[in-house]
Amino acid sequence: MYSLFWTVVLGIAVHPVTAACPYAGHASYLASRSPPREHVEIQKGANSTKGIFYMNRIAPSTSQIFIANADGSNTTLLLPQNKTNPTFDLHPSWSPDGQWIVFTSERRGDGQADVYRVHPDGTGLETLVQSDAFEDNGALSPDGTTLAYVSTQGNHTANIWVQGVEGHGPSSPMNLTDLPSTKPTNPTSPQGHFRPAWSPDGQWIALSSDRDTDWTGHSNGTGWEHTQKLSLYIVRPNGSDFRQVATQGGFSLGTPQWSPDGRRLVYSAMTVEDTYDSHGFIFGQQGVTSQIFSVDITAGSNAPSTQHTTGPFLKLNPHFVGNSSTNIGFLVKGSPNEGVNYTQPDKVTQKAFSTPFLRNPSWSPDGSKVVFEVQSWDVNRPAGKSLFSFDHDWDYRFMDVFPQFNIPTKRLAITQKQLGDSSVMVSSATYTKIDDVFDVKDISSPQQAGDFAFGLGGAYQPSFSPDGKQLAVGFGSWFAGRTSHSGTIYLANTTSSNSSTATNSSGIPFSRSYTNLTAIGGTLNAGFPSFSPDGTRLVYRLWNVANGQPLGLRILDMATGVTTNLTDGWDNTPGWSPDGERIVFSRQLNWTASSDENRWWADRFDIMTIHPNGTGLTRVTDSPANDAHAVWSHDGRILWNSGMYGFRDESPLYDNTFQPYGQIMAMDADGSNKQLLTDSMWEDSMPLFIPKEYL
Ligand SMILES: *[C@@H]1O[C@H](CO)[C@@H](O)[C@H](O)[C@H]1NC(C)=O
Ligand SMILES: *[C@@H]1O[C@H](CO)[C@@H](O)[C@H](O)[C@H]1NC(C)=O
Ligand SMILES: *[C@@H]1O[C@H](CO)[C@@H](O)[C@H](O)[C@H]1NC(C)=O
Ligand SMILES: *[C@@H]1O[C@H](CO)[C@@H](O)[C@H](O)[C@H]1NC(C)=O
Ligand SMILES: *[C@@H]1O[C@H](CO)[C@@H](O)[C@H](O)[C@H]1NC(C)=O
Ligand SMILES: *[C@@H]1O[C@H](CO)[C@@H](O)[C@H](O)[C@H]1NC(C)=O
Ligand SMILES: *[C@@H]1O[C@H](CO)[C@@H](O)[C@H](O)[C@H]1NC(C)=O
Ligand SMILES: *[C@@H]1O[C@H](CO)[C@@H](O)[C@H](O)[C@H]1NC(C)=O
Ligand SMILES: *[C@@H]1O[C@H](CO)[C@@H](O)[C@H](O)[C@H]1NC(C)=O
Ligand SMILES: *[C@@H]1O[C@H](CO)[C@@H](O)[C@H](O)[C@H]1NC(C)=O
Ligand SMILES: *[C@@H]1O[C@H](CO)[C@@H](O)[C@H](O)[C@H]1NC(C)=O
Ligand SMILES: *[C@@H]1O[C@H](CO)[C@@H](O)[C@H](O)[C@H]1NC(C)=O
Repeated sequence: MYSLFWTVVLGIAVHPVTAACPYAGHASYLASRSPPREHVEIQKGANSTKGIFYMNRIAPSTSQIFIANADGSNTTLLLPQNKTNPTFDLHPSWSPDGQWIVFTSERRGDGQADVYRVHPDGTGLETLVQSDAFEDNGALSPDGTTLAYVSTQGNHTANIWVQGVEGHGPSSPMNLTDLPSTKPTNPTSPQGHFRPAWSPDGQWIALSSDRDTDWTGHSNGTGWEHTQKLSLYIVRPNGSDFRQVATQGGFSLGTPQWSPDGRRLVYSAMTVEDTYDSHGFIFGQQGVTSQIFSVDITAGSNAPSTQHTTGPFLKLNPHFVGNSSTNIGFLVKGSPNEGVNYTQPDKVTQKAFSTPFLRNPSWSPDGSKVVFEVQSWDVNRPAGKSLFSFDHDWDYRFMDVFPQFNIPTKRLAITQKQLGDSSVMVSSATYTKIDDVFDVKDISSPQQAGDFAFGLGGAYQPSFSPDGKQLAVGFGSWFAGRTSHSGTIYLANTTSSNSSTATNSSGIPFSRSYTNLTAIGGTLNAGFPSFSPDGTRLVYRLWNVANGQPLGLRILDMATGVTTNLTDGWDNTPGWSPDGERIVFSRQLNWTASSDENRWWADRFDIMTIHPNGTGLTRVTDSPANDAHAVWSHDGRILWNSGMYGFRDESPLYDNTFQPYGQIMAMDADGSNKQLLTDSMWEDSMPLFIPKEYL
């Protein structure tokens, strides 16, 4: 199974027009073991004054912190946990005086990261920084008076901040990386600052940053998801003397830590290209090699570095262990022996040990113990699970992908991708009474069934007819598969009939005879339909399978069967506005067709709108980061997924994710009043508001 998937992933990775998506492959390893399930969790006292906000999130389902001896023996939970409902704790760091473990936790709500500390024996838990912005990667100063941490406070980008602890140090939070003297020069570039680390004398904070780099697609610029180029910087805790200390063309340098004498920074380096595969599936991670280096920062800018490791595998999170200036502990990720390793272990108290999904190790000052997190990716973020409500008026909940709501029938439609095999389910607004209305197993060929099991296709973007009795959906292969396999728009009944043995949740049989609306043969790939609000027309996107080129958006007249061209660009995921006036879609603005290679030349995806009669083409986003997957809200705004505020952590430290910078945004239909609706460290997408009156 591993080798099969490896082939599939490679097939995508090397494709010249790789256009994966937040959802490429995601369900693959979950689909086989998780039947569709019903889960309702109407929380008493939840914030639902205005209704439910459904969204999708790609994040581990649990993350727990453990302390072990430096050889992995006596691994013990840091904090006692409710086994069925553990708190989501991650990114531990041991304080220089040995007295505290500082860590990030989402215990206030799924997706809401704050910084806490607790003694290594699990006593004395305290909140250090808490706000509705994202807070992460806390590190206590050597004298224990000041916390350095990452926060998106202020302007939604990841900056390094400092704040006093228990009445010492700066009394209010102060940012170090967005001061007039330290701010990045290019406001539209990536501008994240990550992983602060105090020098042993407390005079400096080291950090990594992708500031003033370019947004670049993976696979030499042709991929849709972005790579990350990090360099290392130091700054004084009062914000002065900010400077770059290490950078390398074509390479990304991350997770700096200081040597005991305060002269050197140890870090992990990999090619910029590899920052993409290193946060994907384990199969991709296994192909990535990084090495540990250190650099003498007293030897002038960008002094030559010393290499501490050789050989294959992804090596991350290096730390000088104890007082040693030669023994470096680090994480080996994505290897069959995933876990902790050392460059010069004493082999008595320090030995390599393996723990799958161990992440972010940090050593006690004497080097005898190590604290780390262990993730799980089992499905226990079920449909309907409560998430933190970044907008307190709405009850945020997890949902599978492409949620759509029909007001007359008060029914919800989704593609069950993370929780199933990419069939379409229709349910009540709270995801009870689930009906399998378009089951991919009914019509999949064996080849399609294989693709769908790996998450590369299925029944995507269901769209209700206005009366809710039918829905249109694209069925076929998506992502890079659109250049090798067909896709077809089907119409399916959501209501009962007597002609089949398949039954809905009320035991009434469906007519599961799906109607082929675009019987277009194997050379075209039609998908992502959306009904006009009067139900007379459908808009969808079309691809040429034979030459791999996009053909634009098409409008199908349901009464006459006549199809007309709306656009001819690299256009995808169209959606018809509730008032019928506009169609919103994502466009690649720098697409060049050529006979030998179809690709884009600059990674520019933006949101566009157009009148259904083809006039009034308007671009409503302009960030050089990805803007895509736009949908209309009940109140006529556009909701979409944007990377415009950048990464929230070093990209290689994520797992099983594609666009960790993706957050959900809202704007007016003309592009004004852009507003952030989520502020998590995870890939958030696929929004749907259901106002309370329809629940
Ligand atoms: C194992 O860890 C626990 C909790 O940290 C500690 O109390 C105990 O002394 C440790 N035992 C050994 C043998 O290291
Ligand atoms: C553990 O969590 C479950 C699920 O939230 C809850 O029902 C149960 O009461 C909790 N147990 C304890 C001991 O708190
Ligand atoms: C950082 O601090 C400076 C100086 O007080 C301020 O001008 C800037 O707006 C702050 N940046 C953020 C993101 O809060
Ligand atoms: C946020 O901070 C970055 C980094 O200094 C800066 O480039 C950008 O202009 C700021 N954005 C806003 C909205 O203030
Ligand atoms: C990027 O381009 C280089 C040089 O043409 C090539 O060797 C390499 O395989 C390409 N990498 C990817 C991921 O496409
Ligand atoms: C881990 O350490 C062992 C020796 O303990 C060594 O043989 C192995 O190559 C190391 N692996 C990596 C990936 O560094
Ligand atoms: C509910 O709203 C209150 C204030 O409006 C806020 O403090 C709290 O964090 C919210 N709870 C959740 C789970 O979003
Ligand atoms: C819906 O069901 C009716 C019978 O009730 C059937 O005639 C029709 O063909 C079905 N439509 C589709 C798209 O399956
Ligand atoms: C629907 O159209 C597709 C594409 O032309 C074709 O492969 C498929 O066989 C058709 N299905 C039916 C049931 O006609
Ligand atoms: C519509 O697009 C197709 C390509 O898919 C093109 O061949 C055809 O000429 C276009 N029709 C019109 C009327 O522009
Ligand atoms: C497309 O990108 C290339 C390379 O960055 C640039 O030279 C060209 O001007 C861009 N074209 C358009 C239409 O944006
Ligand atoms: C196209 O539709 C828009 C919006 O409904 C309308 O204002 C415009 O007059 C129409 N143009 C043509 C040429 O029909």
